[in-house]
Amino acid sequence: MTLKDCLHEAADYLKQKNVEDPSKEAGLLLSWVLGKDLAFVYAHPDLDLDEENRRKFCSTVERRGSQEPYAYIIGQCEFMSLTFDVNPNVLIPRADTELLAETALAAMGIPNPFYRETMFTLPPKEAYRVLDIGTGSGCLSVSIARYAALSGISAHVDGVDISPEALKTALGNAQKHCVASRMHFIQADFLSNISMLRGKYDLIVSNPPYIPSADIGALMPSVRNFEPRSALDGGRDGLLFYRELAYKVSSLLLPEGILAVECGFDQASQIQSLFSDKKMETLILKDLAGISRVVAARAL
Ligand SMILES: C[S@@+](CC[C@H](N)C(=O)[O-])C[C@H]1O[C@@H](n2cnc3c(N)ncnc32)[C@H](O)[C@@H]1O
Repeated sequence: MTLKDCLHEAADYLKQKNVEDPSKEAGLLLSWVLGKDLAFVYAHPDLDLDEENRRKFCSTVERRGSQEPYAYIIGQCEFMSLTFDVNPNVLIPRADTELLAETALAAMGIPNPFYRETMFTLPPKEAYRVLDIGTGSGCLSVSIARYAALSGISAHVDGVDISPEALKTALGNAQKHCVASRMHFIQADFLSNISMLRGKYDLIVSNPPYIPSADIGALMPSVRNFEPRSALDGGRDGLLFYRELAYKVSSLLLPEGILAVECGFDQASQIQSLFSDKKMETLILKDLAGISRVVAARAL
């Protein structure tokens, strides 16, 4: 069977299974199976696919047809132009979350020509202490450590997660991007005990679970059936973690320190109130789609 025939068959199958953009997904899966880029697949339509690769392709297409996310199938995902290893123990990093990473870098005075928001900045310091709550794959904490290092800014990043498997993945990603020596991963339940966090931080970032519990059943099957529930469930109204952050922030943040959190499309103003009630200065930052995606707060 030629690559072209395989692609057509796979795209038809994925379409029947309601996979979005079936032709593109078929092409991506075939390029992954072959270990070649997408251009190679499209440039060689008449090439025969050998039996072994054909079997591998069929099984990956079936997995994708069952709604398993592409990132879990290939075990990788791009975030902030870095490749992260992912697996079903961690949330797949989302493009939306890049705004939070860029916001954290802007707070440390690291320039990004595409960053258009007004953001608080930290006072200059020899080394910043950064905390990432709910670190998951480490996409935020590792990107912050990596881009700070590339910009000659000294930052030590602690990543906290309740899941030991997620922390193992985050450590692997820190090693992969050569920043493990600037990071420390801590297993803790942020909602109950943070005694293992020592000292206060200049910058806290968090993309916590923020889906209201009752809405999880209505998420896309690729999310609700494959991504960890503990990465999604933000309690009754989705705001559980933000309330806890507002409650604990004064014991975690240094004077003039900055907190920045990602939130759901309709949550920003409620979260802003939680932090302004703690006498913090606040800002709401919008993503490229114009959605209020990040709330930043500065300790006065
Ligand atoms: C939405 S995911 C974010 C992962 C990653 N930071 C990102 O942006 O892709 C939330 C993370 O919070 C972690 N988490 C859930 N409950 C927690 C808790 N009580 N204490 C600490 N971490 C928790 C989950 O394991 C998950 O990795």
